[in-house]
Amino acid sequence: MKPKVLITYNIYREVYSEVLKDFDITMPAEGIETFKYEDVLPVVDSFDAILSMWNFPIDKQLLDAAKNLKIVSNYAVGYDNIDVVYATRRGVTVANTPDPVTDPTADIAMGLILSLMRRITDCDKMLRAKELKWGIMNNLGSSLSGKQLGILGMGRIGKALARRALACGMNIAYCNRNRLSAIDEKLYNAKYMPLDELIATSDVLSLNAPLTSETYHIIDAQRLSMMKSDAFLINTARGPLVDEKALIEALRNNTIKGAGLDVFETGDNVCDELLALSNTVLVPHIGTQTVEVRKEMAEYAATNILNYFNGGKVARVNKL
Ligand code: GLV
Repeated sequence: MKPKVLITYNIYREVYSEVLKDFDITMPAEGIETFKYEDVLPVVDSFDAILSMWNFPIDKQLLDAAKNLKIVSNYAVGYDNIDVVYATRRGVTVANTPDPVTDPTADIAMGLILSLMRRITDCDKMLRAKELKWGIMNNLGSSLSGKQLGILGMGRIGKALARRALACGMNIAYCNRNRLSAIDEKLYNAKYMPLDELIATSDVLSLNAPLTSETYHIIDAQRLSMMKSDAFLINTARGPLVDEKALIEALRNNTIKGAGLDVFETGDNVCDELLALSNTVLVPHIGTQTVEVRKEMAEYAATNILNYFNGGKVARVNKL
C-alpha cells in the first residue's frame, strides 16, 4: 500500500504530485486554502505523514490521535507549532526546511534595517501623502556604517544577516546558546556578548532565534528599557519573542527609536496600536515569501517525506 500523506494547505499541488508520486496524497480541495485542525483530528489516524504549514498545530491531542504517523515535515524552518518533545516520545520524526529559508529571511531583516534607519518606507508614505517636506536637513536617517548590529541567535539566518550587514559597514556582535568557533568569529568579525550587554550596547538588535519556552518574551519591558534610546529592534523570527505590549509602550515613549517587524504576537491580526505608530516598519511575515523560495520550500518539505520512506537524507529536528 502507498504511504498516506496529509498536506494541510493548498499550494503547489503539482510539486507534491511530482515529488510524492508514489504516495497517496490528501490535500484541501481546490478553492479551500487550508484544512482546519478540527477537520484533521477525526481522520488523522490513517495517515503515515503530515506536511504541515508553520501555523498548523501538531499538539499532543493530534499526535495521540495520529496512530500511524511516522513523520511530520513542517513547511518552515521554525517548528514551534509542533510539540516536538511529545512527537519524539511517540517515535514521530519531525523535519523542517532550513536550507531554502536562510537567505530570504536575512534579506528581509536587512531590508527592515535599511527601511528604518534610512527612512525609506517613512519617506515613501509621506511623499505619496504629499506630507513630505523636501530639504537637505529634513528626513534625516541614521547611517549603518560603524553601527553595532546585535544578533540574538547566530545560527544560519543570523550569520546570513551578518554577511549582509558587514557589506554595509556594520560591526557585528552576537549572543547565542553556543559561542561560535574562533574561525567563525573571525569570519564574521563578530564579538560574542552576554545577552544583556548585547541589548545595552547595540544600535540595532535583530532577533533570529527560534521560539521556545526560553525565548518567549525574551525582549520584555525591562530589556527594552536597557536598549539605547536611538536603537532599533528587528524581529523576523517569531512574534512572541517580544512582549508586544511592552514594545508598543517603548515605541510610544521613545524608549527606543523604532522597530521593524515581520512577525507579530497576534499572528496575522496586527494590533491597531502598532499600526498607528510611525516609528515602525511592518510587513506581513514575508521572510520567505518569494516566487522561488515558496516553491523550493514545497520541494524540500516533500523531499523530507520521500526520503524518510526511501532511506535518504531528512532534515530532522529530533533524534529518536
Ligand atoms: C518561516 O517563518 C519559517 O519558519 O520558515
